[in-house]
Amino acid sequence: MPGLNRRTCPELSLVVPTFNERQNLAELIARVDRALAGIDWEMIVVDDDSPDQTAKIARDIGRSDARIRCLRRVGRRGLSGACIEGMMASSAPFIAVMDADLQHDEQILPLMLAQARAGADLVIGSRHVEGGSSGSGFSARRDQMSQLATRFAGRLLHTEVTDLMSGFFLLKREIAEQAAPSLTPSGFKILVDLIAAAPAPLKIVEVGYVFRARMAGQSKFDLKIALEFVGLLAHRASGGRIPVRFVFFALTGASGVIIYLLTLKLAMLAGAGFSVSQALAILVSMTSNFFVNNAFTYADAKLRNIGPLLRGLLFFYVVCAFGSIVNLGIGDWLYDRHQLWWIAGLAGLIMGSVWNYTLSSIFVWRHD
Ligand code: GDD
Ligand code: MN
Repeated sequence: MPGLNRRTCPELSLVVPTFNERQNLAELIARVDRALAGIDWEMIVVDDDSPDQTAKIARDIGRSDARIRCLRRVGRRGLSGACIEGMMASSAPFIAVMDADLQHDEQILPLMLAQARAGADLVIGSRHVEGGSSGSGFSARRDQMSQLATRFAGRLLHTEVTDLMSGFFLLKREIAEQAAPSLTPSGFKILVDLIAAAPAPLKIVEVGYVFRARMAGQSKFDLKIALEFVGLLAHRASGGRIPVRFVFFALTGASGVIIYLLTLKLAMLAGAGFSVSQALAILVSMTSNFFVNNAFTYADAKLRNIGPLLRGLLFFYVVCAFGSIVNLGIGDWLYDRHQLWWIAGLAGLIMGSVWNYTLSSIFVWRHD
């Protein structure tokens, strides 16, 4: 078409997930621009509708620099999910994922790209190979946690990669395309998931870099994200059979057992008989399970208003009541046959939980 420019696709898309990173964006772009001189690149900022208006800043920059694109996701949260969607918005042959807070050293990007051009499927920016270190990026405790998680996940995936927890990597687009349908969008650990999802072993290269301190703002890492990682490992270790969400549901159930015992003790201390105390303990622990699940396990389908909350709570009681029948039935049946009380009890508990989980996911919280 006359008068319009046709632009070709760049060689490299940099996917940058953001949540409240407005103060870091301009500096990040300036540094990437310097580091990638002579390379045809674009940046896809994937922002989860940050309250600090990171998406608006990215758009403002994008208006005068078409290399900067922005994908604003509304009503969703999650670092891995943001990375997946950003990668799927790229048509470039190579894609890199990098944090916005300047902790990752952009100066190794040309070397990472060169490795991929030379045939590597996946190039990881690594803190644990020559030239790399955790520098001032992590507290000693978080560093230990990260190394422990790497050892654990490494065993599970049978991989020698030294920095499996890295959020800084570059890969061929086909690899991302192939893996995308089976990746887990929650949590931080997209790299572990990518390696686990690959149908054939990937050709992986690690490039060392010094992990820097965050420039402005705060880390979004928290307990939920650590637990999501445990869920992801269980999901992968079970060959995809155990959903990440089930792990959250089971943990909530375990917290319910503690609440149950505490209520029982308190009610009896207050002078109630055993049966009354037990009934109260059941009610209190089921109610607490409901609210914990609502805030945590099904945060993406959270019930908020009083009407839906009451309806959900009622359905949850009904589901759990049937769940205990399943638990009792299976337990009895096994105990009759094998007389091993703990196997019978545990099997009942597991089947009861699976029941509660499945029906809660259908009738109490509707999610995708
Ligand atoms: N879109 C989106 N949605 N982005 C997010 C979200 C989210 O829910 N949570 C975090 N981010 C963005 C941050 O804005 C930042 O750009 C990047 O993801 C990393 O988040 P941080 O909160 O800074 O994480 P960290 O520094 O504690 O850990 C990161 O670096 C480690 C070392 O590479 C993560 O990438 C870890 O996975 C990684 O191990
Ligand atoms: Mn960070």
